[in-house]
Amino acid sequence: MPRPMIVGNWKMNNSLEQALQLVASLKDSLTPNPNAEIVVCPAFPFVIEVSRVLENSSIKIGAQNMHSAQSGAFTGEVSGSMLAGLCEYVILGHSERRSLFGETNRFINIKVVSALDNGLKPILCVGETEQERDSGNASTVVRTQVKSGLADVADITSVTIAYEPIWAIGTGKIPSQEAVHEIISHGIFEVLQEIYPDSYNIPRILYGGSVTPQNVVNFTADPLIDGVLVGGASLDYNLFSQIVALTLEAKAN
Ligand code: 13P
Repeated sequence: MPRPMIVGNWKMNNSLEQALQLVASLKDSLTPNPNAEIVVCPAFPFVIEVSRVLENSSIKIGAQNMHSAQSGAFTGEVSGSMLAGLCEYVILGHSERRSLFGETNRFINIKVVSALDNGLKPILCVGETEQERDSGNASTVVRTQVKSGLADVADITSVTIAYEPIWAIGTGKIPSQEAVHEIISHGIFEVLQEIYPDSYNIPRILYGGSVTPQNVVNFTADPLIDGVLVGGASLDYNLFSQIVALTLEAKAN
């Protein structure tokens, strides 16, 4: 699996027309790079149309969420088996799912297991609130989220972890390089080494939260960080393609 990765999380944005225009432009302009993965995550209703535009392209598709069950009476939900074959990736445990929809570490863990069972590659999101950061608990919170999110996951080869400090999402505020490095090493890297002491495949680790072309290199310059998970800027073709180019350049060095 190539390591550098840039993921656009469109959230509940874009009309179908805007979505198709955006991916068509990305497909035309991004040179296929076998050493990196670029993923767009549209809202569910657009996944099929977007995947048609991206046929024969190296750009991959991810879903923004899924339910843990295979099927059943879960009105409004979408299962991993429904997404398999349409999407390669699925974002799980995004802070908006945790805070607005009450998703717990346990529930997210069941989804991670179900995603893997369905052949999907989970992007597990973790991150602390401002209050948790201010009280010095960021690493502990992130550790718990990683540990719980990966419970019962024996093979982490297809897992990606995205560190997104909640207070940095959509706010324009960003953490210092040192703070991100510290939390990723103690809250993510060390935990992975503890749980998977024999694994040679440490999951890819992304940073997310107010990423722009101006600040992306702050994060991707860190050898522990393999790429970025981009929200707002992924809706703008110019910004997203600059973020892709800058990340690939930083990772090529
Ligand atoms: P922004 O890039 O808009 O801060 O969103 C980050 C995010 O939540 C990506 O999942």
